[in-house]
Amino acid sequence: MLKRVVVTGASSGIGAATVRRFAELGWQTVAVARREDRLRALAEETGAHVIVCDVTDEEQVSRLAAEVAASGGATALVNNAGGALGADSVEHSSNDDWRAMFEVNVIGLRSVTAALLPVLREGARKTGWASILNLTSTAGLDAYPGGGGYNAAKFAAHAVTSALRLELAGEPIRVMELAPGLVHTEEFTLNRLRGDAEAAAKPYLDVTPLTADDVARVLVGAFQQPPYVNQDLIVLRPVAQSSVFHTHRGPLAPKV
Ligand SMILES: NC(=O)c1ccc[n+]([C@@H]2O[C@H](COP(=O)([O-])OP(=O)(O)OC[C@H]3O[C@@H](n4cnc5c(N)ncnc54)[C@H](OP(=O)(O)O)[C@@H]3O)[C@@H](O)[C@H]2O)c1
Repeated sequence: MLKRVVVTGASSGIGAATVRRFAELGWQTVAVARREDRLRALAEETGAHVIVCDVTDEEQVSRLAAEVAASGGATALVNNAGGALGADSVEHSSNDDWRAMFEVNVIGLRSVTAALLPVLREGARKTGWASILNLTSTAGLDAYPGGGGYNAAKFAAHAVTSALRLELAGEPIRVMELAPGLVHTEEFTLNRLRGDAEAAAKPYLDVTPLTADDVARVLVGAFQQPPYVNQDLIVLRPVAQSSVFHTHRGPLAPKV
């Protein structure tokens, strides 16, 4: 059975780890992002087919879909490209940051999904099934101070995922969502805080966060279930983080 997955945002963090994990399990992978050098390095390691694409650019997304179709099709899509910009209050944040977050986390996800749906349907015709998984966040389930723009974008991505699942009812295409909490990836918080390395290190101090590999393992696990099993929403947090508001710092120990 053809197993070919398109992973957006594959040049770093969770996306790169996801491509590695799928490749280890014998899947063909298509790695998508804007930075070609990083994708090429990942391809050397995993055999991924590289497609350079900005998911916020509709023409590039159309070309992405055409290249996926021409190079072997797809039976799975992981919409992972995304991120946060700024940690300012609703009152003091910038509309440009909000627009940029909405563009990549919501519109980009929609464009890529819409462009690839015909390709996934073709995959489902050949193999019986296809799958879509959207990477949202616990920030898309609970708002927090300073999270407004990112919360709004990830709440929207969560809503889009639910609407899509309803719209595809009757087709052999599962629509899944993975919402991680605190994950320590190299670039996510650094980008959010515009390169301030000291501030970006703080959320991960005295706590064991998830790694990109932890997320990838669980994510790929959802694709290893029988194809009629749809894990609608997987919420994944480190044990030390019992909610967005409760992160235990310091060692964990049984209560006396
Ligand atoms: N880290 C966390 O704590 C955390 C928690 C929950 C959810 N998430 C979500 O998980 C996903 C991955 O996060 P991460 O921590 O792995 O972040 P990351 O390391 O910053 O990776 C983000 C990826 O998205 C790509 N990307 C960004 N804008 C793009 C665009 N316009 N077109 C195509 N690709 C684009 C980036 O590649 P290029 O720059 O090369 O394009 C990069 O590969 C994101 O959706 C994030 O919101 C992260």
